[in-house]
Amino acid sequence: MTTRWTRAAKGAVLGALAMLASIAPAASQTVSDELKSAQKADNSEAALAPELRLSDADMAWWRDAKLGVFVHWGLYAIPAKGEWHMFNDHVPPAEYRKLLQQFNPRHFDADKWALAARSAGARYMVMTARHHDGFSLFDSPGSYEHYDSMHSPAHKDFIRAYTDALRRHGLRVGIYYSPLDWRFPAYFDVKGLPDNAALLRKQTYDQVAELTSRYGKIDILWYDGGWLAHQGTDADAAWFWHPDMLNAMVRKNQPKVVINPRSGWQGDFNVEEGAAPISGPIHDKPWEKTFSLTAHGAWGYTPDQRLVPLDQLKRLFIDAVVRNGNMLVNVGPDADGVIPAGQVRLLADFGKWTGRYGESIFATRPGPFQPVDGIYGSTQHGRAIYLHVLKWPEGGLHLPALPQKILRARALTGGRVRLDQSASGVAVRIDDGHADPVDTIIRLDVGGPVGG
Ligand code: GLC
Repeated sequence: MTTRWTRAAKGAVLGALAMLASIAPAASQTVSDELKSAQKADNSEAALAPELRLSDADMAWWRDAKLGVFVHWGLYAIPAKGEWHMFNDHVPPAEYRKLLQQFNPRHFDADKWALAARSAGARYMVMTARHHDGFSLFDSPGSYEHYDSMHSPAHKDFIRAYTDALRRHGLRVGIYYSPLDWRFPAYFDVKGLPDNAALLRKQTYDQVAELTSRYGKIDILWYDGGWLAHQGTDADAAWFWHPDMLNAMVRKNQPKVVINPRSGWQGDFNVEEGAAPISGPIHDKPWEKTFSLTAHGAWGYTPDQRLVPLDQLKRLFIDAVVRNGNMLVNVGPDADGVIPAGQVRLLADFGKWTGRYGESIFATRPGPFQPVDGIYGSTQHGRAIYLHVLKWPEGGLHLPALPQKILRARALTGGRVRLDQSASGVAVRIDDGHADPVDTIIRLDVGGPVGG
């Protein structure tokens, strides 16, 4: 039954199907509607409340930031079977609620989380204030049946601790919130159970109001699960949630908050979920690639700590950035509030690389060249163009013609660059032995602004 799959698993299948579809269009027709509905990228209705979108100027910091760290943490860290445990294992709400009395993380330290994110070179974090199980990590009078961390033995507002810590460490503050709550039978039958459905919607409005009014300036609001009964798309459920009203309220409380599309409103950026390879041209709308650092795909803590390899992280990051994307990588702290050591190490190792080559990534814009899948892409900043060469074609790289004159070429990753610019294009080569196995980065200084 596909509804029992984690969305990450669906993402992997969809990625494979999309790949198949690109070579054999007929194959895509076998994809079930339900499976299609799990594809969350670009599913929003652009006609709904376009006036709520942020201006390009207000989005600039987010586009400069490029890298964020996601945190999935909640009661599900205790059974340690991933954040979909309650649903996947058919745990009745009353049974699952018993976990509340066990929730008492002794080593939670939001400063350590912030430092781990900083060590990767991340500029922002996004933390699950409440996931699909309904449990809230903050002091929430709007929580249905007082299902929040204040009513656990921890008796603590973790969102407060997190938001305070992020500001201390110069990180932008992101909050994840799931309108969907499995505790409400109406979530699976909104029309059949209108009274219960009204309570579910009220909880969302009340809690989003709390999160956007009690914690100072919020930089990112990251919704997840606006769809109903795990069917259709977030946008299909707009008749129920009224995401235009919801986000109009959010804009009153937080005029400049950057909002993702999963409430059913189009949002300020798109989301692509899962660690499948990235391909295609530069996207017009800013977007974000998000996936878990654990290789098996669960976002919440599990004891299986096999991780996405460092080279894959670098590759995904570059493939996102050269296509106008950011990357949000997820960690899953354990029941004690500790991010597993391997994930902390991976972030730090990644940070050595993002730190060293940051000028070709952070605060850049994609282009001027369209990426060629698996071969190269480019970024730009002022009068500098950065080529990210993922795989050198035999005989070197041939770029389209460039109107600006190239004054200087230098490989940030080492080696001498040989360049031949003509009216028909630019030929680029690197000395033998200096093609980086993941990303050869070449800076071209040009005689005029690149723009675009
Ligand atoms: C999916 C999953 C969820 C995870 C999210 C992150 O929507 O349902 O568990 O929080 O993806 O993008």
